[in-house]
Amino acid sequence: MKGRDMTNPWSANLKKYLWTLVLIWTLGIIASLGWNIYQQKQSSLSFARASAEISYNKDLIYRRWISKQGGVYVPVSEMTPANPYLKVPNRDIMTSNGLLLTLVNPAYMTRQINELAMEMHDFHGHITSLNPIRPENLPDSWEAEALKKFERGTKESVSIEIMTSGKEYFRFMRPFVTEKSCLKCHAVQGYKEGDIRGEISVSIPMEPLRAIERSRMAELTIAHSFLWIIGLVGIGAGTKRLRNQTLVREKLEEELFSLSITDSLTGLLNRRGFLFLAEQQLKLAERNKSGMVLFFADLDGLKWINDTLGHEEGDKALIEATTVLKETFRASDIIARLGGDEYSVLTADITEENSEAFTTRLQSLIDTQNKQDNRRYRLSISVGCSYYDPENPCSLDELMASADKLMYEQKNIKKGLLPQGASLSSR
Ligand code: HEC
Repeated sequence: MKGRDMTNPWSANLKKYLWTLVLIWTLGIIASLGWNIYQQKQSSLSFARASAEISYNKDLIYRRWISKQGGVYVPVSEMTPANPYLKVPNRDIMTSNGLLLTLVNPAYMTRQINELAMEMHDFHGHITSLNPIRPENLPDSWEAEALKKFERGTKESVSIEIMTSGKEYFRFMRPFVTEKSCLKCHAVQGYKEGDIRGEISVSIPMEPLRAIERSRMAELTIAHSFLWIIGLVGIGAGTKRLRNQTLVREKLEEELFSLSITDSLTGLLNRRGFLFLAEQQLKLAERNKSGMVLFFADLDGLKWINDTLGHEEGDKALIEATTVLKETFRASDIIARLGGDEYSVLTADITEENSEAFTTRLQSLIDTQNKQDNRRYRLSISVGCSYYDPENPCSLDELMASADKLMYEQKNIKKGLLPQGASLSSR
């Protein structure tokens, strides 16, 4: 609407609202994806831990069994030569038919089994001690670190490590407590029941678990992307609907506004519309130091037309006056019907002298109109005008009051000149 040049706060808000929703949704999706990936990684760790624990417990059981036997005899072979570190009576014996047997202690068996497990499943098991009988049983740096912690009372050590092969392993280690059966061979070193004799460490390769993790992560990413897109489409559709509703509302508001400033019969501005726009024009004129003329016009004899010819004819007369005024003035002038038979026009950027030209044109248009055949009344309009001097500014009220006064003077002159009833010509 012309004259109501406001930026549209609703549309701007809607955009902000849309981007906020998109941001919240995107952050939500990222958070959910992050949480799911974290959970997946945690579950890989739990799985690795469970596998390590099972492997550790199994080691322990085998070792306890063999320890309770006090060791087991196996035939001496390339794979199992006699253990030089095992110093007990009857380490090597010969069967009655000449087969040479040697005693295998638990650590020796564990070592062989661990070698097999490594070959077959890449599972590393290691039996170690800070004080080993067999020098090769010395701990590696991670194990040594863990062993020191055990001495301070820690019950287990767990972490993900890159081992010398360059591969990633889940490493797990627990202390190894001396039992009664161990003393057969370890009492010589001064160990007692309940002492920490050494440790078993188990290392589970992470790669198979990482592979599962990667495929799960890919699935999760695809699912989340899909969800994200669906959400965006939903937000888009919702916002579009809201925007359409807003547009309808704004259009209605504009229509209501234009209705509230329009005169329904003539389509001109009403009093409220005139005051609204004229005030703005006045401020403009004051700033630009430009002159303006305010015309007050009154349709003569409207009461007579209404009473004698009927209201329909009265309405026609008002519309006729409107047409004449519109033709007289320029499109940029503010023309209004103030109410009843009263009109007013505010013309911008003209000097006092120019106003004369408008009144002359108005009169000539009225005359042409009255020359038409079959007229039931003669059109007559009284006019008064006042000049707005930018050097000597005044208020709109003052301007209107003085134009009104002059118009009434003209009207009274006409009334004095012509008898009532026939007084409908402009002269
Ligand atoms: C039959 C004798 C024998 C018995 C029983 C035995 N061990 Fe050993 N143990 C050995 C010998 C010999 C070694 C060192 C050489 C090797 O690695 O085989 C050893 C090595 C170890 C090691 C590795 C570190 C090192 O000292 O080299 C640990 C730990 C260990 N034993 C703990 C135990 C525990 C705990 C028990 C009881 C559950 C036990 N052993 C029972 C003979 C035995």
